[in-house]
Amino acid sequence: MASVISPSSNRQDDTPVWEFRIDKEADIVAVRQQVRELAKELGFDQFAVAALTTAASELSRNVWVHAQRGVARIAVLRNRPRVGLELEFVDHGPGIADLDRALCGGFSTSKSLGLGPSGTKRLVDEFNIQSAPGRGTKIVIRKWKKEF
Ligand SMILES: Nc1ncnc2c1ncn2[C@@H]1O[C@H](COP(=O)(O)OP(=O)(O)O)[C@@H](O)[C@H]1O
Ligand SMILES: [Mg+2]
Repeated sequence: MASVISPSSNRQDDTPVWEFRIDKEADIVAVRQQVRELAKELGFDQFAVAALTTAASELSRNVWVHAQRGVARIAVLRNRPRVGLELEFVDHGPGIADLDRALCGGFSTSKSLGLGPSGTKRLVDEFNIQSAPGRGTKIVIRKWKKEF
């Protein structure tokens, strides 16, 4: 059973926020599915849906693999010039000692071939990471819908 903590509300513009507890592999699937459904529902094109879905599973997998547990938050951004999706991943795991190295790609402490933070950054419009050894990691990404 997926660990959905809420759909709750976002103070700023009253759009929904979904929170998922991440502490097992199945949670990654749940986050990924929610992101895919929301992105499709909001009318993101198929490439953007794929990018968001990939980013969601990469970053939730990192929470699970490197920090064992954390939270994913999915928010719809409305009432702005464009519609967007914001994904936030927070954990209180070991943090990342060398952010530059983790972000430059091709560096993995678990020898996987995943995209990692660097690949994920290229899939979205905004990427923000805060991390320090012993203090955990917070990553917030945003992607805006293209208007044709
Ligand atoms: N949430 C996290 N907490 C701690 N370290 C992380 C986290 N996410 C990424 N890292 C570190 O950044 C490195 C690069 O991430 P990534 O490219 O996804 O590689 P990996 O295949 O090891 O997950 C990881 O090997 C790990 O050392
Ligand atoms: Mg990874």
